[in-house]
This record gives sequence, structure tokens and C-alpha cells, in this order.
Amino acid sequence: MRQRVLVASNRGPVSFSLGADGTLAGRRGGGGLIAGMTSGLAAVAAQAEVTWICAALSDGDRIAARSPRAASADGGDPGEVRVRMLDIPPETFDRAYNQVANSILWFTHHLLFDTPNQPRFGREFRLDWEAYLAYNQEFADALAHEAAAGPPGRIRVLVQDYHLSLVPRLLREKLDGGGGDLGIAHFSHTPWAPADYYRLLPRQVGQALLDGILAADHVGFHARCWADAFLDCCEAILGAQVSRAGNGDAAGRVSHRGHVTGVAVHPLGVDVPALRARAQADDVRAHVGALRRAAGGKKLIVRIDRTELSKNIVRGLAAYRELLATRPQWHGQVVHLAFAYPSRSALPQYRAYTDQMALIAQQITEEFRTPDWNPLVLEVKDDYPRSLAACALADVLLVNPIRDGMNLVAQEGPVLSERGCALILSREAGAAATLGDDALLINPYDVSETAEAMHQALAMPDAERRRRSAALAATAAAWPPARWLGDQLASLDG
Ligand code: G6P
Repeated sequence: MRQRVLVASNRGPVSFSLGADGTLAGRRGGGGLIAGMTSGLAAVAAQAEVTWICAALSDGDRIAARSPRAASADGGDPGEVRVRMLDIPPETFDRAYNQVANSILWFTHHLLFDTPNQPRFGREFRLDWEAYLAYNQEFADALAHEAAAGPPGRIRVLVQDYHLSLVPRLLREKLDGGGGDLGIAHFSHTPWAPADYYRLLPRQVGQALLDGILAADHVGFHARCWADAFLDCCEAILGAQVSRAGNGDAAGRVSHRGHVTGVAVHPLGVDVPALRARAQADDVRAHVGALRRAAGGKKLIVRIDRTELSKNIVRGLAAYRELLATRPQWHGQVVHLAFAYPSRSALPQYRAYTDQMALIAQQITEEFRTPDWNPLVLEVKDDYPRSLAACALADVLLVNPIRDGMNLVAQEGPVLSERGCALILSREAGAAATLGDDALLINPYDVSETAEAMHQALAMPDAERRRRSAALAATAAAWPPARWLGDQLASLDG
């Protein structure tokens, strides 16, 4: 009998837009979660029947969700993933996704609060929390429905991220002993907050989130430091019994309400053959040609991110300004390509941050531009082929997040690099655990240190840059998505 795998995540592998002629056009969803899961599932879909449950995010998605053929986004062929979109009431979705998940939980795990002013947990937040509960319940109901609908046998459920922290508990309660043979894993693609910071959350909310996740059999993180912080919270906030493991994938076990949950580290790297093949496509090659002509032989410092507060784009630009101010030898010799694609623009903090990026970029350009040198190109646009092209040409890749669960750009850049690139990497990215030896590690808050790392990276001898870049690419290749997913599935069976 084929195994069954159910995936649940807020953002799904496909999103739909409605064309002028009324037809729905599907395109791949963005972000590291989607990239890793899609590629990982491709490796198991041949032996397993996979259903992916996600929320309808756009108007096109909502239409697709109501017409099952379009929303399923599959041809029913073996090896294909069936997608089921949930048409959650817009107000519930807005409160759960924008207010609780992205304005509170994301900010908590990435340490983003301006604490004299935020967060403020009043009556409005209690309504948001009710909506988060309802939204999680919709996912749990859909998973229970899928589990009941298929043939009997072992079902493995993979719940993704902070949007769905309550789902493991709600799913267990829903099935209440009658769920057949069900293994549940929860994976966080984000960091996990230190216990003292996590305590900013209202007590019952902090406890409910941990209690929700701990109903899973297996809980995963990209890096050991996040798994350890989670274990700390289980102890400090819930009073759960925690046993810690030594080195290796296992981080520990938590006993809570009579159930034991394994906590482990599963770093996510890159599907190198697929990425390199994509980079050979005509659209990417056309951008490589255009960027190379525009660079005119100058060195390129490249960054690629969502317009995301935690990505620390403004301090990155400040560091570039400091480099140009303190190291005039680079004037006319370097161009910084800062490509960001729009994200979470429903939130005022994100709109303000995007404005701040534009402002500092304009200041840099005005201060340093000469008739034959434009020091900086900042573009806020979703252009995947151009991002791949920029990675191929980068001499220096800047990845300086305040905190990041893993960070795929830090890994994709060296994999795509044609001449080898020097990686400047925040010590606060999960990827620092695997890539740290071959990157130039920085404190993301230290603009001067980042500027100095830019100088070092630009001045790095060619042979050293190539050697480091090859080592970074080899590390990225050692953690392919198929392994990331396969290890989690194996843990559920172990
Ligand atoms: C991070 C999160 C994902 C999320 C992605 C994009 O990678 O871990 O869950 O999908 O950011 O964010 P968005 O809010 O656009 O889905």
C-alpha cells in the first residue's frame, strides 16, 4: 500500500491570479518553506500519496478553492502532489495571519519588537487570538477529514511553521484516539525566541503555543540553537520535563501531558542539480548578460531578500555607505545590487521599512554617484530569474539578517556563483551553523564590522574566494531537501 503524507502550511506551493479574461493562472508560491518542501516532496511523491493543505491567500486562490478541480492543481498522476486550499473567512485569516502570526509570533522569534511601544496585548489582541485558534482549527479539521477519507494505514502529517502551532494538539483532540495510525511532525522554519523574550507573550498564549506543538511526535528546527531555545521555553514556560541530547541531529525529548516529543535539528540545504539546471535557462542567461554589461567589469556586492525587517536590509545599506565613506579606493570599482521582493505589505511596519530602504539608497546614490559610476542599484520587485543571475555574478554575497531560521540565499549564492563569491553572513542565521567556517561572520547590528567585512571580501585573493565558495557550495549540497524531508519522515517512524 502507498504511504500517505499530509502537509499543512499557510502558504501553499501554488498561488492563483485572475486574468482579465476570467481565467485562473497558477504560479509557484515563494519562500524557503515552499522551495524546500516542494523539492523534498518530489523525492517521496513517487512512493507516497501526498496531499498539501494550505490557506487561500489571494482572491484568485479563493476562487480556486471553491472550484475543486482548479484548486487541486494536480492532474491526478502518480508522483503529483494534491493541493487543497482552505477558503478561511477573510477577517479570521487577516487576524490570524497578519496580526497574530506575522505581527506577534514572527516578531517574537526574530526579536523585532520596539519594546517601549510594542507589543501591547489588549482586548483587540484577544479577538486576534480567537481568530488564530479558529484558523488553526480549520487546518486541523481539514487534516482530520483527509486522514479519514483515505484507505486505512499509516499517515504522516507534516505541520509547518508558527502559523500552525496549535494544529498538532487540535488534530489529536479531533481524532481523540480514533485517528488510526497517525504520526505528526511540526517544523519551524524560523528561529525560536529565548525564554526571557518569549515571556513577552501573554502567559496563556505562550503556554498554548508550546502545548500545541508538543502534541506532535517530532519537532524540528533548522539549527541547534533554535531547538535549544525551544527546549528552554518548554522547561521555563510550561514546566515540562526536558532531557537534552549531546551532539548530532537529536536535540532532546520533552515529556508533557503523558506524551513524549522528540526535538531534532534538520538543516535545509539546496537541491544543487535542479538549481544549476534552472540557472541555465534562457531567461536567467539573458539577465546574466544584461547585468554583466551593466556592471562593466566592476565588482558586485549582491543581496537578495524579501522586503523583511528581519533581513536587516537598512543596516546592510548603511554598511555599504560606511565602506564607501571609509575606503575610497573602492569608488568606481564596486556596485551593490540590492534586490528585494515585496513582502507582507499589508503590515504598516513593512511599508515603512521599504520606505526606509529607499531613503538610504537615495542618500547613498546622491552622496557617491559620479557621471560614470552608479554605486547602488536597489530594486523592489519579484524577479526570480534576475536573482539567480545576480547570484551567478556576485563577487560578494551579503546575508546579514538580525535572525533567520536558516537562510537559503547564503547557500544558493555559492552554488550558482560562476567565479566564486565571498559570503558575508550574520552569525544569527541558522545557516551560520553549517556555513560558518567558510563565511565571513558578522554581528548583524554592527554596521562598522559589516563594512569591514565588505572590504575584506572585496580584497580577498581570487584563489581564497574560489576555495571558500566551493566549500560553501559543497556544504549546501550536503543537506538536500530530500534529506531534510526524509529524515523527518524517518523520525516519525523511528
Ligand atoms: C518564512 C516563513 C514561511 C513564509 C515565508 C514567506 O520563510 O518561514 O512560513 O511562507 O517566510 O512569508 P509569507 O508571509 O509571504 O508567507
